[in-house]
Amino acid sequence: MARSLIDVLDLSLDEIDELIAVANDIIANPRKYSEVCHGKKLATLFFEPSTRTRLSFEAAMYELGGHVLSVSSGASSSAAKGESVADTAKTVSCYADIIAMRHPKEGAPYVASLNASIPVINAGDGGHNHPTQTLTDLLTIKREKGHFENLTVGFCGDLKFGRTVHSLISALSRYSGVRIVLISPDELKLPSYIKNDVLKKNGIPYKQTTDLLSVIPELDILYMTRVQKERFFNEEDYLRLKDSYILEPRKLETAKADLCIMHPLPRVNEISVAIDDDPRACYFKQVLNGKYIRMALIMKLLKEAGTI
Ligand code: CP
Repeated sequence: MARSLIDVLDLSLDEIDELIAVANDIIANPRKYSEVCHGKKLATLFFEPSTRTRLSFEAAMYELGGHVLSVSSGASSSAAKGESVADTAKTVSCYADIIAMRHPKEGAPYVASLNASIPVINAGDGGHNHPTQTLTDLLTIKREKGHFENLTVGFCGDLKFGRTVHSLISALSRYSGVRIVLISPDELKLPSYIKNDVLKKNGIPYKQTTDLLSVIPELDILYMTRVQKERFFNEEDYLRLKDSYILEPRKLETAKADLCIMHPLPRVNEISVAIDDDPRACYFKQVLNGKYIRMALIMKLLKEAGTI
């Protein structure tokens, strides 16, 4: 069975450092990598909507000299006829060299990895995990802050359903001196299993609040998130909670001069466009970093599989 990436914790800290180093080298020397995946094929199997993740994977493979096969919605594949994830993975293994899969069901990319003969990358599974967004976020933090240790990181918005939050908290819990501030409405708090199994287990200091303004001065990183409409069971709750936090310029008056404002995107209303030109806004840098770290990851998994 080929090595896959399902959870960011599948990677050691040394491997994450290596991926970041390769991504930085790609940024500095893109031509060096332009034929590394010549003739190889990436299949992007997206059973949930995406702009950044799917297109950055596809751009990554093209920039490595490879090709792309794409399923951009469940409705356009035989999943709509009832085909299982396992059979889909076995089938696509006949056509491609590596798979990036997004699926609304938690664990679906893991099931795919057990049945595929090629590497499978989890491109987001339900409200569970989004490891390549986390690699993107780590590359961004490293480029903006230079280190992961001793940072106070605030997560704001939908901490219940936000899979990017869950993955990044897991990843940051492995670095020393990290402090986590959880900012959300009561209904959208970080799930207890993450508080217990990740934060408490690793001795990571954290606090919870509903008040963004009261904690903004202490933050080195503010990670804003969208309220995940697609995971709500009723529209009424979504409408009540969707604008709980809207970051506007006046709310940054007490923030650090070197605060790094991140957001996995898409944003709906959580960050005013008036902040986009603030030098502390890093979310469009994240978008670009996502392509480079995915190039590094595709190369790593294809090399380990002996494909390149
Ligand atoms: N950050 C992210 O996963 O964006 P998309 O849903 O557009 O892929």
